[in-house]
Amino acid sequence: MKNIVVLVSGGGTNLQALLDAQNRGELAGGKITCVISSNPNAYALERAKKHNVETAVIRRKDYDSLEAYDEALTALLTQKGADVIVLAGFMTILGKKVIGAFRNKIINIHPALIPSFCGEGYYGLRVHEEALKKGVKVTGATAHFVNEVCDGGPIILQKAVEVQNGDTPEVLQKRVMEQAEWKILPKAVALFCQDKIIVNGNTTEIIE
Ligand code: GAR
Repeated sequence: MKNIVVLVSGGGTNLQALLDAQNRGELAGGKITCVISSNPNAYALERAKKHNVETAVIRRKDYDSLEAYDEALTALLTQKGADVIVLAGFMTILGKKVIGAFRNKIINIHPALIPSFCGEGYYGLRVHEEALKKGVKVTGATAHFVNEVCDGGPIILQKAVEVQNGDTPEVLQKRVMEQAEWKILPKAVALFCQDKIIVNGNTTEIIE
């Protein structure tokens, strides 16, 4: 059984999708054992507590440098015995140490079809604002492994979502979450827990 540790910063609807998938028996081979937040006031922590999942908080601003924060986060994840780490709306950039210690074991959900609308500065609502500004007719979400390149690691799953006339960033964000993120994130985690993802360099192959 793989220990799933989820990192969050905000509302935690993706964490909720993972908890719901687990309750439906869809995370076979894994168990959500800990939720770690970068923000002590994140509602995601309440969601974890309601499901009797252990929580912890680690704030970037409590460390003088990215190196010290990176060291502390790596130690915390090691102490929690993480086999897979899920970034579910985690808004802090990871350092080299944690990425190296958990290579191809950190899964991120990004609210666009990578390589569109991704990279540094593209997070949360901003991603949807830029998609609307560009006038794309299709957007979506991507579940991918984390490497040293921001939003540049091997892609695991993607799902497309149509943009509709009159969409605001908020409306589009909600549709992308409902139709894509909340579906592909639990699916990617389940595939990982069942050893069904083969990583070849910067691409993956899914064993059906
Ligand atoms: C989600 O849309 C997630 O894809 C995005 O933040 C939101 C968090 O919502 N993540 C990023 O933009 C990362 N680059 P949630 O807290 O309700 O899951």
